[in-house]
Amino acid sequence: MKLAFWKKKSGGSAGQVDFDHLPRHVAIILDGNGRWAKRRGLPRTAGHRAGAENFRKIATYCRDIGLEYLTVYAFSTENWKRPEEEVDAILDLLRRYMLEALDTMERDRVRLCFMGDRSVFNQELRELAARCDEVSQRIEGCQCNICLNYGSHAEIVRAAQNFAKDCINGSVKLEDLTEERFEDYLYSAGIPSPELLIRPGGEQRLSNFLLWQCAYTEFYFTDVLWPDFSIEELHKALAAYQRRDRRFGGVKK
Ligand code: FPP
Repeated sequence: MKLAFWKKKSGGSAGQVDFDHLPRHVAIILDGNGRWAKRRGLPRTAGHRAGAENFRKIATYCRDIGLEYLTVYAFSTENWKRPEEEVDAILDLLRRYMLEALDTMERDRVRLCFMGDRSVFNQELRELAARCDEVSQRIEGCQCNICLNYGSHAEIVRAAQNFAKDCINGSVKLEDLTEERFEDYLYSAGIPSPELLIRPGGEQRLSNFLLWQCAYTEFYFTDVLWPDFSIEELHKALAAYQRRDRRFGGVKK
């Protein structure tokens, strides 16, 4: 039914995607914005703008097909090494994105949440992120997690520190720590692990993204640059995922 809906709207082909067996959670590393812009003789910031627009399109489509979670890597703990002008431009794009989302997310049924250390951002950005979180808590729909100033190593260290603090204040016991309880200390607490991680832009690495959460995730790499990553490309990734044989360390029955 959902497939028919998409075909009617866009006239494209959904290939081999079985829309009744989609992953619940897809993660995407938004890579290739700079190269996309360079190929067009544009400044890198134009690539980020195109990347943000593409995220809007893909997130809306993910909502339409009933995906529960979409997690994207928008700004890593390492991205501060970029020229100040580029960092400012990315953060300004995010600010604008959040402002607009506050007006539209309820209507669009897209929840916008954030993962990462926000303490370094200015007050306006922190407040906007908190307001998006607040609205997200009272609406239903696809949950889009935008990773901002996020790095997996930092996330895991923060989780260990917070667990240690809880041990010291007596709210948990060291011997009660299990893998499941440790997950409660990650930014992704309560969210299932992504079944599929997509990296456009030609690189084949995780770049400090969701290291804990991706223990059994299927990876899909493509040379297509993020601003060009279309719904057709998403279909290819979903179809590739559905052809995989997931055994989780076991054997095939
Ligand atoms: C990686 O491409 C992209 C980033 C570091 C920034 C991504 C940010 C956005 C798309 C803006 C806001 C996002 C949302 C979700 C509203 P790159 O610049 O490293 O590309 P390159 O490898 O071609 O240089």
